[in-house]
Order: sequence, then C-alpha cells, then structure tokens
Amino acid sequence: MQQKLSAARRLRGTIQVPGDKSISHRAVLFNALAEGNAEITGFLPGADCLSSIACLRQMGVVIEQSGATVRVFGRGLRGLQEPADVLDCGNSGTTLRLLAGLLAGQPFLSVLSGDASLRSRPQGRIVGPLRALGAQLDGRDNGQRAPLVIRGTTIHGGAYELPIASAQVKSALLLAGLTGDAPMRLTGKIASRDHTERMLTAMGIDLAIGPDALLLHPPIHPVFPYPLSLHVPGDPSSATFWWVAAAIHPDSAITTLGVGLNPTRTGALDVLRAMGADITVTNERLEGAEPVGDVTVRGAGLRGTRIDGALIPRLIDEIPVLAVAAAHAVGETVVADADELRAKETDRIATVVGELRALGAQLDPTADGMVIAGGGELHGAAVKSHGDHRLAMALAVASLVAEGETVIDEAEAVSVSYPTFWADLAALRG
Ligand code: S3P
Repeated sequence: MQQKLSAARRLRGTIQVPGDKSISHRAVLFNALAEGNAEITGFLPGADCLSSIACLRQMGVVIEQSGATVRVFGRGLRGLQEPADVLDCGNSGTTLRLLAGLLAGQPFLSVLSGDASLRSRPQGRIVGPLRALGAQLDGRDNGQRAPLVIRGTTIHGGAYELPIASAQVKSALLLAGLTGDAPMRLTGKIASRDHTERMLTAMGIDLAIGPDALLLHPPIHPVFPYPLSLHVPGDPSSATFWWVAAAIHPDSAITTLGVGLNPTRTGALDVLRAMGADITVTNERLEGAEPVGDVTVRGAGLRGTRIDGALIPRLIDEIPVLAVAAAHAVGETVVADADELRAKETDRIATVVGELRALGAQLDPTADGMVIAGGGELHGAAVKSHGDHRLAMALAVASLVAEGETVIDEAEAVSVSYPTFWADLAALRG
C-alpha cells in the first residue's frame, strides 16, 4: 500500500495514542503464566502483540480479545501445552525473544519462527545466555538465527552478566529463571526498559531490583504469579511521532493523552527539550505500576544536539523520527553508541540515512549511528518503509514539512505498532 502525503498547513489536535507495545506483550505473556484470570484494557491490537496472543493460544491459553480489551485465562507457570506446530512470531522480536526464555523451562519441544525480517535478526544474544542457564536450544547459523528449536529442560539459577543493554534479553532470562531450580542474579547492562521488573513484582514475584543487579527467586508456592489486571498506558514510542511533528511544524499544537512516562522510555522527550522544543507535561499520575501523563508540544525552532551514551537505551526505537527532527533543526546532530540500530526490524542506520537522503536531508552513516547536518529544506520524493513500521511513520512526519508530494511505499507496515496512524495523521491535519 502506498501513502501520498503533502506538507501540512497546520497540525492541531488531541490524540489518544495506542497502548504501549512492550507492556501489551508482557501483559498477555505474563498473565498466561498466572494462577487466575486477568483483564487488560488499553491493549495495543497491533500485529506484533497479536502474534504474542496467537502463539499463547497455540499452547492452550484461552485469550478473548476485542480491540483494546483482552481477557487472559492464566494456566499457571507449569500449565502450558506443547504447541502442535511452529510458533509464528511474525515481525515481532519481543514475542520471539520473550517466548524463548519462557519456553526454555517448559517440559516440551517448541519451535519459534517469524517473517523474513525476524529470521534475519541476531538471536545469539538470547541463545548464548539461555544455554549458560542450562537451556537446550538451537537455531540456524549455529544458534544465531530463527527458527529456534527449544527442548524444554530444568533451568539453573546462577549469575549472568548482560553484555548488551537489551530489555528483550533481560526479560528472556528472567522468564527462564521463573521456572529455575535456584535464584538468578543478573548484572552488567541491566539499564533498559524495566516493564518486566515492574510487572513481575506486581504479580508477587520475588525480584530484588538494585542499581547494579537483579536477583530473582523462583516462586515456590503455586499461587504465584498472581494474575494482574491493568490498563496499558499510551506508547511513548508512538507518541514521539506526534511530538516531533509538532516540534518541527511552525503552526502546531498537539496533545497526546495518557502516555507512559516511565523514565526508562522518556529519552526522546529529554532530547527534544535539549533541542529547544516547547513541551508541557500535565496530569502526571501512576497507572498501576507505570507513570503516565499528558504531553503537549507546540512548534518552536530546534537546534542540533548529541544523542549517545546512557540516553540510547531510553530512546532506541525513537531514533528514526528523532533523525527527522535533527534534519529540520539548525546545526549538527550526532547519534553515537547506537549500533543496536543495525539489529532492529531493518538496519535502521542504513534505511533511515538512505530514505531521509531521498527527501533531501543531509546525513551520513557511521559505524554506531549517524551525523545529521540540519537546517536544509526537505522535498517530497518516492520513499519506502522497507517493511519497517517506525521508518514508515518517521517518513510520514518528514513529509509534513517537505515541499511537494511524498509517496511512501509499503506504508501498511504501521499496523505492526500503530494501526490507526494514518487516521490520526488525517485528524491532526484537519
Ligand atoms: C523491547 C525492547 C527493545 C525495543 C523493542 C521492544 C521490549 O529491544 O527496541 O522495540 O519490549 O523489550 P531490545 O531489547 O533489543 O533493545
């Protein structure tokens, strides 16, 4: 599907962005293991989270889903059934990696696969540490790529030092540890989104969270994990498309309601503030285990900045659209320490640089990021998403300040994380 877009005269409105993708996955996956039933509202009915639901159903979990409302009938930590076929994770790295951990300690065989993008992504990052805990799993390319085959076995506790800041790897290990025969201690790069820690703790799991270590005691008593009914906050990664759209447009005011403001996810807000964006946060509150608030952004002149170091895990998914903000800003922006971008749905260093260049932006790839010379005029062009949802939306945001028509190919990719993106964009243009 193609989307044809032109510059917006103005951008105004209030948007309820869809539910957080990371929290939606965890809400169904963890409640499937719970001793009881849970109701989830605000769930993201995007293709990625629907892949998690489909895989769980293949293992006997009853899940009723109607739009953003989901009921999960938990089967307990040891109640899943061997799936009769390959578990298809679609485009979803979170589904595949969290399930790999969850299934490592289940007493049956399972096979995890997905689309061409997912089958090309690195899985050694979970296969290696899961094997170190005693898991028996393998994959193509010496355990580097899916399909992955998991022969469930007893998981041992012990200590593991995380070499990369990845919430998917951290979560896979914690899920494996839930069925382990001894406590598990994780150290190293544990600073990444912490939704797993918050949710497991809220479900009664004994997880001690320190600044440098996580210590998990597998539950002994079969009442754990408790089921957890929750309302999923709006996804800050989705809201960032509107924050950048408002920040780069001279005649704009966009409010996003009920967005997650977990500090492990708000790096994009910090960067936009450093660039000079006009941002107001109101109505800050706690919803369950997660902080949320309403965020309003108005057009303002932006200047270049540096995005690196500890900021990177707090905004890794927002870099494609932050590159659009940087292309519009005055001065240079440097993105560094972000080699993880190469392991996403596409190699986002290559695809972001290539497609933004087609729109007239001046930027160069580096080994671990990109250098963007901001301030030039963008012009419409034929571009493509490469099947990457976040690239499709970043290009749409760029088109709002580009002269002439922009045609985005493979625009349907937005359905992975933001199925109503095109409708919300039309509403904001008025
Ligand atoms: C996610 C973690 C991040 C992120 C992805 C979702 C999660 O990936 O990019 O979109 O839900 O745990 P990594 O853990 O690989 O950094």
